Amino acid sequence: MPDVDMRVELAGVTLKNPVCVASGTFGFGREYGAFYDLGELGAICAKGLTLHRREGNPGPRIAETPMGILNSVGLQNPGVDAFVETELPFLRQYDVKVIANISGNTPEEYGIMCEKLAQAGVDLIEVNISCPNVKAGGLAYGTRPELAAEVTQVAKAHAGSVPVMVKLSPNVTDITEIARAVAGAGADALSLINTLRGMRIDVNTRRPVLKMNTGGLSGPAVLPVAVRMVWEVAQAVDLPILGMGGVSKGADAAQMMLAGASAVAVGTALFADPYAPIRVRDELAALAAGQGLERAAELIGGVKPW
Ligand code: FUM
Repeated sequence: MPDVDMRVELAGVTLKNPVCVASGTFGFGREYGAFYDLGELGAICAKGLTLHRREGNPGPRIAETPMGILNSVGLQNPGVDAFVETELPFLRQYDVKVIANISGNTPEEYGIMCEKLAQAGVDLIEVNISCPNVKAGGLAYGTRPELAAEVTQVAKAHAGSVPVMVKLSPNVTDITEIARAVAGAGADALSLINTLRGMRIDVNTRRPVLKMNTGGLSGPAVLPVAVRMVWEVAQAVDLPILGMGGVSKGADAAQMMLAGASAVAVGTALFADPYAPIRVRDELAALAAGQGLERAAELIGGVKPW
């Protein structure tokens, strides 16, 4: 790797490099751990957790699109207690920061999960108020500033010294409005973007391709939307940002960082290439070295708007 200091800070947590993996695309790391040392990653955002185990939505729940995928997984997960008992100890074998992603049906559920995860010693908690595939919680919180702020306040009150990062939805008119609300409620960091609501229809059966009719779009198709939203949010609030949405190359990660992200998460690219985050990290290091930078962090917020 080129001689560039790749360390970055995210809400007081030092990541050894800016390239993380996005929640819902990496499970709890077990499968990818067969490919490489998970300690190579900046951080692992674990699969989204709920208070109780969930089976998720009925299939089909994944469909390809031009330059991306639609998913309506519906937060399938083993529940927060199983994560603490079984998955977190597995991840703790590796020298990597662990970010737990949580979704609740009520603000109280977010609080209970934060308490359990803080006690268990995760490095960061990602408060998901933006899942487009569930009826309760999810987008209902992420599209209304007052509810987004309430969930943030409750999470902060129960997370102890563990930083709280709120995951924002792009399915809003003005993402900075929600960003300001959660910043005002005490969030330590923001992550964005979650998926964009979308739909595909089989023209022969006339049925939607996904059983839930709609799903969330991710992949390279959403990168310019994500970069634009990171840029807007970075100007609106003074919080570190974990940027995600369509990152599959080092230059994509650099765009995110120039727009204002302190770190980036690779997600959908993992389905085509399990090594994507390692490659993105190496490409980012080469890009930074090629520009004569000593530290990758010098990219953060460096865009020169016209
Ligand atoms: O359906 C899902 O599990 C997706 C979650 C999310 O986008 O946050």
